[in-house]
Amino acid sequence: MALFIWSDEYSVKVASFNGHHRKLMELINELHDAMKRGKGPDAVGGVLKSLLEYTKIHFSAEQYLMTAHGYPGYEAHKAEHDSLVGKVEELTEKHRNGVAVTVEVFQFLKDWLTKHIKETDRQYGSFFNSKGIS
Ligand SMILES: [Fe+2]
Repeated sequence: MALFIWSDEYSVKVASFNGHHRKLMELINELHDAMKRGKGPDAVGGVLKSLLEYTKIHFSAEQYLMTAHGYPGYEAHKAEHDSLVGKVEELTEKHRNGVAVTVEVFQFLKDWLTKHIKETDRQYGSFFNSKGIS
């Protein structure tokens, strides 16, 4: 069974970004499933690889729309993105060096979902909606 189930409390009121966030949720659920089967260490490399790609595409899409419409929280939001990218790179490096990072990656993703998406991302919803983007 999936650990996280999508609901309105995760909605940022922009359909394409909700789609991206659902992908991230699927990734967390996949890692969690693998961990339950004792296969976390086998899955974590693939998860980190997907995350590197994901951050590039998803964060640039959010930032592009923010700058295009003059979102007032842009600088602070981008700083959070940069810090998430830094953490993905740090975890990737540790994994490459043979450090067991499965639990740390899982915890990091849970925080990403509950802090960045549910708190920071949700702040832009009404702003974008007021610009006709939903
Ligand atoms: Fe974001």
